[in-house]
Amino acid sequence: MPLLEIKNLKLDFIAGSRNLRAVDDVSITIDSGETVCLVGESGCGKSVTALSIARLVPSPPAKYVGGEILLNGKDVLKMSKNEVRDIRGGVVSYIFQDPSASLNPVFRVGSQIKESLKLHRPEKATDAEVIRLLKLVGIPAPESRIKDYPHQMSGGMQQRVMIAMALASEPKLLVADEPTTALDVTIQAQILELLLDLKKRMGMSILLITHNLGIVGDIADRLAVMYAGQVVEMAPALDLLRRPLHPYTKALMNSVPKLNGTAERLTAIPGNVPSLGNFPIGCRFYPRCPSAAAHPECANTMPELIEVEPKRWVRCLYSKDL
Ligand SMILES: Nc1ncnc2c1ncn2[C@@H]1O[C@H](COP(=O)(O)OP(=O)(O)OP(=O)(O)O)[C@@H](O)[C@H]1O
Ligand SMILES: [Mg+2]
Repeated sequence: MPLLEIKNLKLDFIAGSRNLRAVDDVSITIDSGETVCLVGESGCGKSVTALSIARLVPSPPAKYVGGEILLNGKDVLKMSKNEVRDIRGGVVSYIFQDPSASLNPVFRVGSQIKESLKLHRPEKATDAEVIRLLKLVGIPAPESRIKDYPHQMSGGMQQRVMIAMALASEPKLLVADEPTTALDVTIQAQILELLLDLKKRMGMSILLITHNLGIVGDIADRLAVMYAGQVVEMAPALDLLRRPLHPYTKALMNSVPKLNGTAERLTAIPGNVPSLGNFPIGCRFYPRCPSAAAHPECANTMPELIEVEPKRWVRCLYSKDL
């Protein structure tokens, strides 16, 4: 049984009398020990999908209108409030882009990690365990750093503390939503390196959300590409990066800086992600698709997500021909 099985998830935001669908029939599985990266432009529904796993999207305005989120076989959408509270920060831990949103400025970092331990592993709420966690995330001289306040640490160090807090519960699934976007490039690489190392040492599963296709090859086992609330392509990471099949994935990859020294210009994808409630009736990428002129029927036909090759899922009628 996979650790997580999101099946045909549908989530609406209720805006007055309108139901705006933000997640539309999304299915993603994550095996134990597996790292799945969710990529796509801003507003495609990556965070809402990820937050749904622990029912963290505020409801209202959100409403789960269909599907299942099976965590160890049990549907999170049918759990009681108490059961959901137990999985939050327990089986499933989150780290976000901005450490200052998760760390409390008036408490020392050591005591914040200890609080996290008290909640989930009270028998381990000791200085020794806090120091072990800080060591695990690569904080030098943790014995003295536990007394620091967050503002005494650099952004990269704060991010490491946040990861230590997320690890305090020994989660089965770590959800990292753009964990490095606010950091400079060198620190970004170090944090990703750390995640990779933790994954190997602790055997947990990771759902990593990022805009940046340039970094995912090193860490992801599988990639899911989202566009306008739907998964449009899903495949083993290296297969997808070597040979993307959906025109949206190809366009995203063309907008990644290449490190081969050629002065190629980056192509931004023309146009914008359609806003909620304004999705085209056919293929949602149609208005921006470079092959649209050759396939006018795509304007009216919504393609299904189909397994076109073993383990390769694509939502495009012509992925083989483009
Ligand atoms: N609480 C909310 N109320 C109403 N609409 C929301 C809410 N949260 C998200 N949305 C909308 O849902 C859609 C998906 O948002 P989401 O945050 O999942 O995008 P994303 O892919 O994570 O983007 P980004 O890369 O910018 O983080 C967007 O159109 C967003 O405006
Ligand atoms: Mg987001």
